[in-house]
Amino acid sequence: MRSAYGFKIPEIDPELTRVGPGTPCGELMRRYWQPVCLSRDLEDLPKRIRILGEDLVAFRDGDGRPGLLFFRCSHRGTSLEYGRLEDQGLRCCYHGWLYDVEGNILDMPLEPPGSQVKDHLKHPCYPVQEFGGLVFAYMGPLEKVPELPKYDAWVHEGGKFHARFGPRIGGSVDCNWLQTEENLMDALHTVWLHTLHSGSQFPTQVFTSLPEELRYEETEMGMRFVMIQRLDGGRWAELIWEMVMPLNAHLVYTSELKTTKVNQVSFCVPVDDTHVRSANIRWMPADEDETLLSGRAKLAPGGRSDTSYEYRQRHPDDKEAQEGQGEIANHRLEHHVTSDEGVLMFRRILRTAIEAVKQNKDPKGIIRDPEKAACVPTTAGARVWEEGEKRTQNVQGTRAG
Ligand code: FES
Ligand SMILES: [Fe+2]
Repeated sequence: MRSAYGFKIPEIDPELTRVGPGTPCGELMRRYWQPVCLSRDLEDLPKRIRILGEDLVAFRDGDGRPGLLFFRCSHRGTSLEYGRLEDQGLRCCYHGWLYDVEGNILDMPLEPPGSQVKDHLKHPCYPVQEFGGLVFAYMGPLEKVPELPKYDAWVHEGGKFHARFGPRIGGSVDCNWLQTEENLMDALHTVWLHTLHSGSQFPTQVFTSLPEELRYEETEMGMRFVMIQRLDGGRWAELIWEMVMPLNAHLVYTSELKTTKVNQVSFCVPVDDTHVRSANIRWMPADEDETLLSGRAKLAPGGRSDTSYEYRQRHPDDKEAQEGQGEIANHRLEHHVTSDEGVLMFRRILRTAIEAVKQNKDPKGIIRDPEKAACVPTTAGARVWEEGEKRTQNVQGTRAG
Protein backbone atom coordinates (compact mmCIF):
# COMPACT_ATOMS: atom_id res chain seq x y z
CA MET A 1 0.00 0.00 0.00
CA ARG A 2 1.11 3.58 -0.64
CA SER A 3 -0.07 6.77 1.02
CA ALA A 4 0.44 10.47 0.37
CA TYR A 5 0.52 11.00 4.12
CA GLY A 6 3.47 13.20 5.01
CA PHE A 7 3.99 14.47 1.42
CA LYS A 8 5.31 18.02 1.76
CA ILE A 9 4.63 20.72 -0.80
CA PRO A 10 7.81 22.81 -1.21
CA GLU A 11 7.84 26.62 -1.31
CA ILE A 12 7.28 28.23 -4.72
CA ASP A 13 10.47 29.58 -6.34
CA PRO A 14 9.78 33.34 -6.46
CA GLU A 15 12.63 34.36 -8.79
CA LEU A 16 10.99 33.54 -12.11
CA THR A 17 7.36 34.23 -11.29
CA ARG A 18 6.90 37.44 -9.27
CA VAL A 19 6.60 40.68 -11.21
CA GLY A 20 5.95 43.31 -8.54
CA PRO A 21 8.35 46.26 -8.01
CA GLY A 22 11.70 45.20 -6.56
CA THR A 23 11.35 41.49 -7.40
CA PRO A 24 14.07 39.96 -9.65
CA CYS A 25 11.73 39.21 -12.58
CA GLY A 26 9.73 42.39 -11.96
CA GLU A 27 12.93 44.39 -12.40
CA LEU A 28 13.64 42.50 -15.63
CA MET A 29 10.15 43.19 -17.02
CA ARG A 30 10.61 46.88 -16.18
CA ARG A 31 13.52 47.12 -18.65
CA TYR A 32 11.21 46.66 -21.67
CA TRP A 33 8.31 48.66 -23.13
CA GLN A 34 5.11 46.90 -22.05
CA PRO A 35 1.73 47.22 -23.76
CA VAL A 36 -0.84 48.65 -21.33
CA CYS A 37 -4.00 49.33 -23.38
CA LEU A 38 -5.34 50.14 -26.82
CA SER A 39 -4.91 53.62 -28.28
CA ARG A 40 -8.66 53.69 -28.89
CA ASP A 41 -9.29 53.04 -25.16
CA LEU A 42 -8.14 56.59 -24.49
CA GLU A 43 -11.06 58.73 -25.54
CA ASP A 44 -13.15 60.94 -23.29
CA LEU A 45 -12.69 58.97 -20.05
CA PRO A 46 -9.61 57.87 -18.10
CA LYS A 47 -8.80 54.15 -18.06
CA ARG A 48 -7.79 52.17 -14.98
CA ILE A 49 -4.78 49.93 -15.71
CA ARG A 50 -3.14 47.16 -13.71
CA ILE A 51 0.24 45.92 -14.91
CA LEU A 52 3.23 44.25 -13.20
CA GLY A 53 1.28 44.48 -9.95
CA GLU A 54 0.93 48.29 -10.15
CA ASP A 55 -2.32 50.25 -10.35
CA LEU A 56 -2.31 53.14 -12.78
CA VAL A 57 -4.60 55.39 -14.78
CA ALA A 58 -4.11 56.11 -18.47
CA PHE A 59 -5.63 59.09 -20.27
CA ARG A 60 -5.21 61.38 -23.26
CA ASP A 61 -5.01 65.16 -22.97
CA GLY A 62 -6.51 67.75 -25.31
CA ASP A 63 -3.40 67.74 -27.49
CA GLY A 64 -3.75 63.99 -28.01
CA ARG A 65 -0.80 63.13 -25.74
CA PRO A 66 -1.22 59.88 -23.75
CA GLY A 67 -0.29 59.80 -20.06
CA LEU A 68 0.03 57.11 -17.38
CA LEU A 69 -0.19 58.13 -13.73
CA PHE A 70 -0.22 56.33 -10.36
CA PHE A 71 -3.97 55.84 -9.88
CA ARG A 72 -4.30 57.47 -6.45
CA CYS A 73 -4.59 61.25 -6.37
CA SER A 74 -1.63 62.89 -4.59
CA HIS A 75 -4.08 64.89 -2.45
CA ARG A 76 -6.09 62.34 -0.46
CA GLY A 77 -5.94 59.25 -2.59
CA THR A 78 -9.15 59.08 -4.59
CA SER A 79 -8.76 57.00 -7.72
CA LEU A 80 -8.14 59.21 -10.73
CA GLU A 81 -10.24 56.86 -12.87
CA TYR A 82 -13.21 58.97 -11.66
CA GLY A 83 -11.58 62.19 -12.81
CA ARG A 84 -12.51 64.18 -15.89
CA LEU A 85 -10.46 64.97 -18.93
CA GLU A 86 -9.64 68.54 -19.85
CA ASP A 87 -7.42 70.07 -22.49
CA GLN A 88 -4.44 70.23 -20.14
CA GLY A 89 -4.90 66.83 -18.51
CA LEU A 90 -6.85 64.87 -15.92
CA ARG A 91 -8.75 66.57 -13.07
CA CYS A 92 -9.51 64.62 -9.87
CA CYS A 93 -13.20 64.33 -9.05
CA TYR A 94 -12.83 65.02 -5.31
CA HIS A 95 -11.20 68.47 -4.92
CA GLY A 96 -10.28 69.22 -8.52
CA TRP A 97 -6.49 68.84 -8.65
CA LEU A 98 -5.43 68.91 -12.31
CA TYR A 99 -2.59 66.67 -13.57
CA ASP A 100 -0.74 66.78 -16.89
CA VAL A 101 0.79 63.76 -18.66
CA GLU A 102 4.15 64.38 -16.96
CA GLY A 103 2.72 64.27 -13.43
CA ASN A 104 2.82 68.06 -12.93
CA ILE A 105 -0.03 69.47 -10.85
CA LEU A 106 -1.37 72.44 -12.75
CA ASP A 107 -4.27 73.53 -10.59
CA MET A 108 -5.67 73.19 -7.04
CA PRO A 109 -8.94 75.10 -7.39
CA LEU A 110 -9.85 75.05 -3.67
CA GLU A 111 -6.53 76.62 -2.57
CA PRO A 112 -6.14 80.37 -2.05
CA PRO A 113 -4.81 82.39 -4.99
CA GLY A 114 -1.03 82.47 -4.99
CA SER A 115 -0.67 79.11 -3.20
CA GLN A 116 2.57 77.47 -4.29
CA VAL A 117 1.86 73.99 -2.94
CA LYS A 118 1.33 72.60 -6.42
CA ASP A 119 4.76 73.79 -7.56
CA HIS A 120 6.48 71.57 -4.99
CA LEU A 121 4.60 68.36 -5.71
CA LYS A 122 5.19 65.83 -8.48
CA HIS A 123 2.82 62.93 -9.10
CA PRO A 124 4.28 59.48 -10.03
CA CYS A 125 3.99 58.83 -13.77
CA TYR A 126 5.56 56.66 -16.49
CA PRO A 127 6.74 57.44 -20.03
CA VAL A 128 4.39 56.13 -22.73
CA GLN A 129 4.38 55.90 -26.51
CA GLU A 130 1.98 54.51 -29.11
CA PHE A 131 2.50 52.18 -32.02
CA GLY A 132 0.16 50.14 -34.20
CA GLY A 133 -2.89 50.87 -32.04
CA LEU A 134 -1.31 49.94 -28.68
CA VAL A 135 -0.09 52.19 -25.86
CA PHE A 136 3.28 51.07 -24.44
CA ALA A 137 4.72 52.09 -21.06
CA TYR A 138 8.28 52.01 -19.79
CA MET A 139 8.28 51.35 -16.03
CA GLY A 140 12.02 50.97 -15.36
CA PRO A 141 14.90 53.32 -14.49
CA LEU A 142 14.93 56.36 -16.79
CA GLU A 143 18.62 56.02 -17.63
CA LYS A 144 17.85 52.60 -19.16
CA VAL A 145 14.99 53.43 -21.56
CA PRO A 146 15.46 51.24 -24.68
CA GLU A 147 14.09 51.66 -28.20
CA LEU A 148 10.58 50.30 -28.85
CA PRO A 149 11.20 47.40 -31.27
CA LYS A 150 9.26 47.32 -34.57
CA TYR A 151 9.36 43.74 -35.81
CA ASP A 152 9.70 42.85 -39.47
CA ALA A 153 6.33 41.09 -39.19
CA TRP A 154 4.81 44.60 -39.26
CA VAL A 155 7.13 46.36 -41.66
CA HIS A 156 5.36 46.31 -45.02
CA GLU A 157 4.51 48.84 -47.70
CA GLY A 158 1.08 50.42 -47.17
CA GLY A 159 -1.51 48.38 -45.32
CA LYS A 160 -2.85 49.01 -41.84
CA PHE A 161 -2.56 47.73 -38.28
CA HIS A 162 -5.17 45.94 -36.24
CA ALA A 163 -4.57 45.88 -32.48
CA ARG A 164 -6.19 43.78 -29.78
CA PHE A 165 -5.85 43.90 -25.99
CA GLY A 166 -7.66 41.85 -23.35
CA PRO A 167 -8.32 38.31 -22.27
CA ARG A 168 -6.76 35.75 -24.56
CA ILE A 169 -9.07 34.41 -27.23
CA GLY A 170 -11.38 31.89 -25.59
CA GLY A 171 -11.35 33.50 -22.14
CA SER A 172 -9.03 35.01 -19.59
CA VAL A 173 -6.31 32.85 -18.08
CA ASP A 174 -6.10 33.65 -14.38
CA CYS A 175 -2.71 32.37 -13.32
CA ASN A 176 0.91 33.39 -13.32
CA TRP A 177 2.11 34.89 -16.63
CA LEU A 178 4.98 32.39 -16.89
CA GLN A 179 2.56 29.48 -17.31
CA THR A 180 1.03 31.15 -20.38
CA GLU A 181 4.34 32.21 -21.88
CA GLU A 182 6.27 28.97 -21.47
CA ASN A 183 3.30 27.19 -23.06
CA LEU A 184 4.40 28.78 -26.34
CA MET A 185 7.78 27.05 -26.22
CA ASP A 186 6.22 23.74 -25.07
CA ALA A 187 5.93 22.58 -28.68
CA LEU A 188 4.62 19.07 -28.11
CA HIS A 189 1.60 20.00 -25.98
CA THR A 190 0.03 20.98 -29.31
CA VAL A 191 0.04 17.30 -30.28
CA TRP A 192 -1.33 15.99 -26.99
CA LEU A 193 -3.58 18.66 -25.44
CA HIS A 194 -4.80 20.44 -28.57
CA THR A 195 -5.21 17.35 -30.76
CA LEU A 196 -5.10 13.84 -29.31
CA HIS A 197 -6.72 14.71 -25.98
CA SER A 198 -9.25 17.45 -26.75
CA GLY A 199 -9.83 16.94 -30.48
CA SER A 200 -8.33 19.20 -33.12
CA GLN A 201 -8.32 22.64 -31.46
CA PHE A 202 -5.72 23.78 -33.99
CA PRO A 203 -7.12 22.87 -37.39
CA THR A 204 -3.80 21.84 -38.87
CA GLN A 205 -2.24 18.56 -39.87
CA VAL A 206 1.08 19.58 -38.33
CA PHE A 207 -0.03 18.66 -34.82
CA THR A 208 -1.81 15.39 -35.50
CA SER A 209 1.16 13.20 -34.51
CA LEU A 210 4.70 13.51 -33.17
CA PRO A 211 6.73 15.52 -35.69
CA GLU A 212 9.43 14.02 -37.88
CA GLU A 213 11.87 16.56 -36.48
CA LEU A 214 11.79 19.11 -33.68
CA ARG A 215 14.54 21.36 -32.47
CA TYR A 216 14.78 24.26 -30.05
CA GLU A 217 17.26 27.05 -30.66
CA GLU A 218 18.32 30.05 -28.63
CA THR A 219 18.40 33.19 -30.78
CA GLU A 220 19.87 36.68 -30.41
CA MET A 221 16.49 38.02 -29.23
CA GLY A 222 15.00 34.97 -27.51
CA MET A 223 14.39 31.43 -28.73
CA ARG A 224 12.38 29.43 -31.24
CA PHE A 225 11.39 25.94 -32.20
CA VAL A 226 11.46 24.43 -35.65
CA MET A 227 9.01 21.59 -36.25
CA ILE A 228 9.04 19.51 -39.45
CA GLN A 229 6.08 17.29 -40.21
CA ARG A 230 5.01 14.98 -43.04
CA LEU A 231 1.57 15.89 -44.42
CA ASP A 232 -0.98 14.00 -46.52
CA GLY A 233 -0.41 13.80 -50.26
CA GLY A 234 3.39 13.64 -50.11
CA ARG A 235 3.80 17.18 -48.80
CA TRP A 236 5.99 18.40 -45.96
CA ALA A 237 5.62 21.37 -43.62
CA GLU A 238 8.03 23.29 -41.44
CA LEU A 239 6.66 25.47 -38.68
CA ILE A 240 8.72 28.01 -36.75
CA TRP A 241 7.34 29.65 -33.61
CA GLU A 242 9.49 32.25 -31.96
CA MET A 243 9.66 33.97 -28.58
CA VAL A 244 11.31 37.35 -28.47
CA MET A 245 12.22 38.78 -25.07
CA PRO A 246 10.57 39.78 -22.99
CA LEU A 247 7.33 37.98 -23.82
CA ASN A 248 6.50 38.46 -27.47
CA ALA A 249 5.18 35.55 -29.47
CA HIS A 250 5.65 35.22 -33.20
CA LEU A 251 3.58 32.36 -34.55
CA VAL A 252 1.26 31.32 -37.33
CA TYR A 253 -2.04 29.51 -36.93
CA THR A 254 -2.02 27.58 -40.15
CA SER A 255 -5.40 26.11 -41.00
CA GLU A 256 -4.64 26.06 -44.72
CA LEU A 257 -1.00 25.21 -44.81
CA LYS A 258 1.03 27.38 -47.11
CA THR A 259 4.38 29.04 -47.09
CA THR A 260 3.92 32.24 -45.15
CA LYS A 261 5.76 34.62 -42.86
CA VAL A 262 4.15 35.85 -39.67
CA ASN A 263 2.49 39.25 -39.93
CA GLN A 264 1.44 39.65 -36.31
CA VAL A 265 3.06 39.77 -32.90
CA SER A 266 1.37 38.83 -29.63
CA PHE A 267 2.40 40.14 -26.24
CA CYS A 268 1.93 38.35 -22.95
CA VAL A 269 1.02 41.10 -20.45
CA PRO A 270 1.65 40.24 -16.78
CA VAL A 271 -1.13 42.04 -14.88
CA ASP A 272 0.22 40.81 -11.53
CA ASP A 273 1.51 37.51 -10.13
CA THR A 274 -1.75 35.63 -10.79
CA HIS A 275 -3.37 37.34 -13.79
CA VAL A 276 -2.32 37.77 -17.37
CA ARG A 277 -3.71 39.48 -20.46
CA SER A 278 -2.79 39.31 -24.07
CA ALA A 279 -2.15 42.03 -26.65
CA ASN A 280 -1.57 41.75 -30.34
CA ILE A 281 -0.69 43.89 -33.35
CA ARG A 282 -1.42 42.49 -36.79
CA TRP A 283 -0.41 44.06 -40.07
CA MET A 284 -3.03 43.67 -42.80
CA PRO A 285 -3.35 44.80 -46.41
CA ALA A 286 -5.34 48.03 -46.78
CA ASP A 287 -8.26 46.29 -48.47
CA GLU A 288 -8.58 43.43 -45.97
CA ASP A 289 -11.79 43.42 -43.95
CA GLU A 290 -11.03 43.76 -40.22
CA THR A 291 -14.39 42.24 -39.29
CA LEU A 292 -13.10 38.90 -40.67
CA LEU A 293 -10.57 38.82 -37.86
CA SER A 294 -13.11 37.62 -35.31
CA GLY A 295 -13.82 34.64 -37.57
CA ARG A 296 -10.13 34.01 -38.01
CA ALA A 297 -9.59 34.21 -34.29
CA LYS A 298 -11.70 31.09 -33.94
CA LEU A 299 -8.80 29.22 -35.46
CA ALA A 300 -6.68 30.15 -32.47
CA PRO A 301 -6.64 27.81 -29.49
CA GLY A 302 -9.51 28.49 -27.17
CA GLY A 303 -12.06 29.62 -29.78
CA ARG A 304 -14.80 27.52 -28.19
CA SER A 305 -18.56 27.55 -28.28
CA ASP A 306 -19.29 25.79 -24.97
CA THR A 307 -17.69 26.98 -21.73
CA SER A 308 -19.54 24.72 -19.27
CA TYR A 309 -17.45 22.89 -16.66
CA GLU A 310 -18.38 19.53 -18.18
CA TYR A 311 -17.31 20.64 -21.66
CA ARG A 312 -14.06 22.04 -20.26
CA GLN A 313 -13.40 18.74 -18.47
CA ARG A 314 -14.02 16.80 -21.68
CA HIS A 315 -12.21 19.24 -24.00
CA PRO A 316 -9.64 21.11 -21.92
CA ASP A 317 -7.60 23.82 -23.63
CA ASP A 318 -4.68 26.06 -22.70
CA LYS A 319 -6.86 27.80 -20.11
CA GLU A 320 -7.56 24.59 -18.22
CA ALA A 321 -4.00 23.25 -18.58
CA GLN A 322 -2.41 26.50 -17.40
CA GLU A 323 -4.85 27.42 -14.62
CA GLY A 324 -4.73 23.74 -13.64
CA GLN A 325 -1.03 24.20 -12.77
CA GLY A 326 -2.16 26.47 -9.92
CA GLU A 327 -2.23 30.24 -9.46
CA ILE A 328 1.57 30.10 -9.52
CA ALA A 329 3.01 26.80 -10.74
CA ASN A 330 5.30 25.14 -8.23
CA HIS A 331 8.41 24.25 -10.25
CA ARG A 332 9.79 22.21 -7.36
CA LEU A 333 6.97 19.69 -7.81
CA GLU A 334 7.81 19.12 -11.50
CA HIS A 335 9.70 16.14 -12.99
CA HIS A 336 11.26 17.19 -16.27
CA VAL A 337 11.58 14.91 -19.29
CA THR A 338 12.79 15.18 -22.89
CA SER A 339 9.68 17.04 -24.09
CA ASP A 340 10.36 19.87 -21.61
CA GLU A 341 13.47 21.01 -23.48
CA GLY A 342 11.84 24.21 -24.77
CA VAL A 343 10.36 25.19 -21.40
CA LEU A 344 13.67 24.63 -19.63
CA MET A 345 15.53 26.62 -22.30
CA PHE A 346 13.07 29.50 -21.81
CA ARG A 347 13.53 29.42 -18.02
CA ARG A 348 17.33 29.46 -18.47
CA ILE A 349 17.05 32.48 -20.77
CA LEU A 350 14.91 34.26 -18.17
CA ARG A 351 17.36 33.51 -15.35
CA THR A 352 20.28 34.76 -17.45
CA ALA A 353 18.34 37.95 -18.26
CA ILE A 354 17.48 38.47 -14.57
CA GLU A 355 21.16 38.04 -13.72
CA ALA A 356 22.14 40.58 -16.41
CA VAL A 357 19.82 43.17 -14.84
CA LYS A 358 21.28 42.47 -11.39
CA GLN A 359 24.72 43.22 -12.88
CA ASN A 360 23.40 46.43 -14.43
CA LYS A 361 23.77 45.05 -17.98
CA ASP A 362 21.17 45.03 -20.78
CA PRO A 363 19.17 41.77 -20.83
CA LYS A 364 18.40 39.86 -24.05
CA GLY A 365 15.95 41.65 -26.34
CA ILE A 366 16.98 45.22 -25.43
CA ILE A 367 17.71 47.32 -28.52
CA ARG A 368 19.49 50.69 -28.33
CA ASP A 369 20.23 51.24 -32.03
CA PRO A 370 17.25 53.12 -33.56
CA GLU A 371 18.03 51.76 -37.03
CA LYS A 372 17.91 48.17 -35.80
CA ALA A 373 14.75 48.83 -33.76
CA ALA A 374 12.99 50.08 -36.92
CA CYS A 375 12.91 46.56 -38.42
CA VAL A 376 13.86 43.75 -36.05
CA PRO A 377 14.37 40.53 -38.01
CA THR A 378 12.40 37.47 -36.91
CA THR A 379 12.05 34.03 -38.50
CA ALA A 380 8.63 32.71 -37.48
CA GLY A 381 6.43 31.31 -40.21
CA ALA A 382 5.44 28.21 -42.11
CA ARG A 383 6.92 26.54 -45.18
CA VAL A 384 5.31 23.82 -47.24
CA TRP A 385 6.95 21.78 -49.99
CA GLU A 386 6.19 18.71 -52.10
CA GLU A 387 7.98 15.39 -51.65
CA GLY A 388 11.15 15.45 -53.71
CA GLU A 389 11.13 19.25 -54.00
CA LYS A 390 14.18 21.01 -52.63
CA ARG A 391 13.62 22.82 -49.31
CA THR A 392 15.06 26.01 -50.73
CA GLN A 393 12.28 28.49 -50.06
CA ASN A 394 13.10 30.33 -46.90
CA VAL A 395 10.41 31.53 -44.53
CA GLN A 396 12.39 34.72 -44.02
CA GLY A 397 12.04 35.59 -47.68
CA THR A 398 8.26 35.33 -47.79
CA ARG A 399 5.43 37.51 -46.59
CA ALA A 400 1.93 36.75 -45.49
CA GLY A 401 -0.63 38.29 -47.79
S1 FES B 1 -8.44 63.56 -3.49
FE1 FES B 1 -7.97 64.29 -5.46
S2 FES B 1 -8.17 66.43 -5.31
FE2 FES B 1 -8.62 65.70 -3.30
FE1 LIG C 1 -1.48 25.69 -26.24
